[in-house]
Amino acid sequence: MSTIEKLFSFEGKVIIITGAAGAIGSTAGHLFASLGANVVISDLNEEGAIKVAKEIEKESGKATLGIKTDATNEEDLEKLVSETIKKFGKISGLINNVGWGANTPIWESNSEKMVKSYLLNTVGSYNLTKMCMPYLEKEPNASVVFSGSLVGVSPSPEFIEYSTAKAGLMNMVRSMAVISGPRVRFNTVLIGSVDNGDSTLAAGYTPEMLKALSDMFVMKRRGTPVEIAYGMMFLMSDAAQWITGIDLRIDGGGSYKSKMPKKED
Ligand SMILES: NC(=O)c1ccc[n+]([C@@H]2O[C@H](COP(=O)([O-])OP(=O)(O)OC[C@H]3O[C@@H](n4cnc5c(N)ncnc54)[C@H](O)[C@@H]3O)[C@@H](O)[C@H]2O)c1
Repeated sequence: MSTIEKLFSFEGKVIIITGAAGAIGSTAGHLFASLGANVVISDLNEEGAIKVAKEIEKESGKATLGIKTDATNEEDLEKLVSETIKKFGKISGLINNVGWGANTPIWESNSEKMVKSYLLNTVGSYNLTKMCMPYLEKEPNASVVFSGSLVGVSPSPEFIEYSTAKAGLMNMVRSMAVISGPRVRFNTVLIGSVDNGDSTLAAGYTPEMLKALSDMFVMKRRGTPVEIAYGMMFLMSDAAQWITGIDLRIDGGGSYKSKMPKKED
């Protein structure tokens, strides 16, 4: 095995991925298994989780667990951890990828919707990470990666519940990082807009909004799930052993705009 292959080998690692029946999570599952990991595919969508896990097992030959988990339910999260330990005996890494948010204009939300989004996008990941910590602390180069969002670092009045929750998530990750080194690393992938099929439309994006988003990115298109999975792979790998507490922006250059006025402005 070459040095590069060793750095990106996940042989002998057990990685839990949440929201893993969806676009980014399932793609990450395929990628980590192809690099040698045993992956745990957890999702509220039981049928989807089991289907993805079976596909990965068939494709990679690696034992895989597909399990129904509601990330907002602590009993479900406890079961996810105990079933993982029962099947694989350890947890080497965790990808807190679960998240979703509907288009809610800023003054049309309420306490219930704000709290619901916070439970899904932030608190669920806190609870699962806390439950995994005793196992992660025993593993070499243990790593936790979270799916953050560009809207968590820039104003997003159209998605007020989701963007507020993602902003909280990202600072929570930094707090976890500073207190948990050197044994466990914590990082966020800060995601731009990625094509995830019907899920984006269900969240209330119109075709016009998607076109405007594509135009906004320096790369002039939305991302693909695997482009996010590659970032997760880097942060989880031995190549990233000195990286903790960062937000890795994978957003097609969408974060920054020139402040200089264009000629036509
Ligand atoms: N796709 C994008 O443009 C984009 C942009 C920024 C951030 N993100 C973030 O990336 C992550 C993955 O996004 P995606 O595009 O793959 O989304 P997706 O909608 O394709 O997948 C999300 C998955 O989460 C599952 N889920 C929903 N509620 C759940 C719950 N209570 N418990 C467990 N699972 C639940 C869904 O069943 C689904 O399979 C999310 O955290 C999302 O917020 C995505």
